[in-house]
Amino acid sequence: MDPNASELAKRLAEAGQSHLLQFWKELDPEEQSVLTLDLQGMDFQEINGFFEKATETSGSSKREKMDARLEPVPREVLGSVTRDRESLKDWEEAGLRCISQSKVAVLLLAGGQGTRLGVSYPKGMYDVGLPSHKTLFQIQAERIFKLQQLAEQKHKIKCCLPWYIMTSGRTMQSTKDYFSRHSYFGLDKNNIIFFQQGMLPAMDYSGKIILENKGKLSMAPDGNGGLYRALRNQGIMDDMERRGVEFIHVYCVDNILVKVADPSFVGFCVKKGADCGAKVVEKTNPTEAVGVVCKVDGRYQVVEYSEITLATAEKRSADGRLMFNAGNVANHFFSFSFLRDIVQKYEPELQHHVAQKKIPYVGTEGQLIKPDKPNGIKMEKFVFDIFQFAKTFVVYEVLREDEFSPLKNADSQDAKDTPTTARHALMSLHHRWVLNAGGHFIDENGRQVPAIPRDGAAGRFTDDGNRNLKDGTDLPIKCEISPLVSYGGEGLEELVKGREFHATLMIDGNGVHELVKNGV
Ligand code: UTP
Repeated sequence: MDPNASELAKRLAEAGQSHLLQFWKELDPEEQSVLTLDLQGMDFQEINGFFEKATETSGSSKREKMDARLEPVPREVLGSVTRDRESLKDWEEAGLRCISQSKVAVLLLAGGQGTRLGVSYPKGMYDVGLPSHKTLFQIQAERIFKLQQLAEQKHKIKCCLPWYIMTSGRTMQSTKDYFSRHSYFGLDKNNIIFFQQGMLPAMDYSGKIILENKGKLSMAPDGNGGLYRALRNQGIMDDMERRGVEFIHVYCVDNILVKVADPSFVGFCVKKGADCGAKVVEKTNPTEAVGVVCKVDGRYQVVEYSEITLATAEKRSADGRLMFNAGNVANHFFSFSFLRDIVQKYEPELQHHVAQKKIPYVGTEGQLIKPDKPNGIKMEKFVFDIFQFAKTFVVYEVLREDEFSPLKNADSQDAKDTPTTARHALMSLHHRWVLNAGGHFIDENGRQVPAIPRDGAAGRFTDDGNRNLKDGTDLPIKCEISPLVSYGGEGLEELVKGREFHATLMIDGNGVHELVKNGV
């Protein structure tokens, strides 16, 4: 073993991780140098510390105790697209003004591994099968493009809406290459800033790092809350400061309906003087497995379904809604100064959460073993772990069918949040935009399709809060509107009012087309 490697062996021994070199002699020189490089870049004492802290807190959740400490979101900090209709215009205008002044930035969390979806490339490159075959990245890029245009038109001023994209070691290069191949979807490449989040090793229950093969550690990104450490390590806050960014909209790559830099949400948060805001959708079923935003001991937090009792999950307010109904969708607003404080001061206080996983590992004979039950943990921080530090926290409630349809799983009979549900949710929304703008659809017999879509087609929810779109009779009208034409349903009257269309309807930069007659 060379001198560097023996130094490494010493460090590993001190950290109780010597087993990582157990196959050293079987590795060829190249494999040895790759492993050495990987190990040299790691701080084992820190990783051991993360493990101890994370496992110590994860075992101590006492549901009864948590229940007693919960309070719902008070009405005064809540804005709602259904209950505060009269304020929506003001909020939207305030948000657009901030965008036009180039004070808003968009931050995309795209460092996940997408294991459930099961593709080898970044999830943002996934095509859910829309008529246009646009990917999630393209849809989001075009929404940013359009919003910039709307702000510029309204305020007669050139603006820029920088897009910070967090990737991980595994997704960075392919994400960058993808954007470059597509000429950044018309956006200025100087305003798209890629940065990379950290990775952590998977560990067994006794804190030993798991080897994925003889010369490679099992590594995973450190959760979407790895954002804060990455922002610091990659100098992103300095970049934001240079650009004069004051407000940041953070969202996840997998929500096909996401209103990127939503001016109403931004405007609401700014007008309330908030340092931190969370967009939520109403949780309507007590057993839906979604985290809810609420107060715990007076501080805001997301409480997971598994952390409370059924009795608490079932509690209702006087208006009949669930008391804890602010369903978190990982869609947030931060003021720049709040984010800077988090990054500079509070990040080390955030604890990792523990996810028990089936982690493939190398056996003592060097063979790969795929366990059929969880055999270890991954440690992750969550993006919403920082709510507790907010001084002025607000919550903005939107309609699920308009704004939230995440892509998590591959298509299969009973899966939720699939390419099919995402595709249907988007087409159903666009169908409603056409109806609201005064257009109609006609079926193959020339009859008008009912203006209220059939039960299910526009998003009837099943008991678990998911859309019921599995039944073939409930297929939505095929209709897709390019974000380059409309960001949120605006500007469509002149194109569709008083007109009748056959599906598939496409509205894009080239106008209004029916792709396949009678193809409902
Ligand atoms: P999920 O927790 O749903 O994970 O991420 P995922 O990677 O998409 O899918 P699975 O769990 O492996 O199947 C929610 C959002 O957080 C981002 C994801 O890219 C997604 O936008 N994320 C997740 C990160 O940016 N980094 C992470 O370490 C984890």
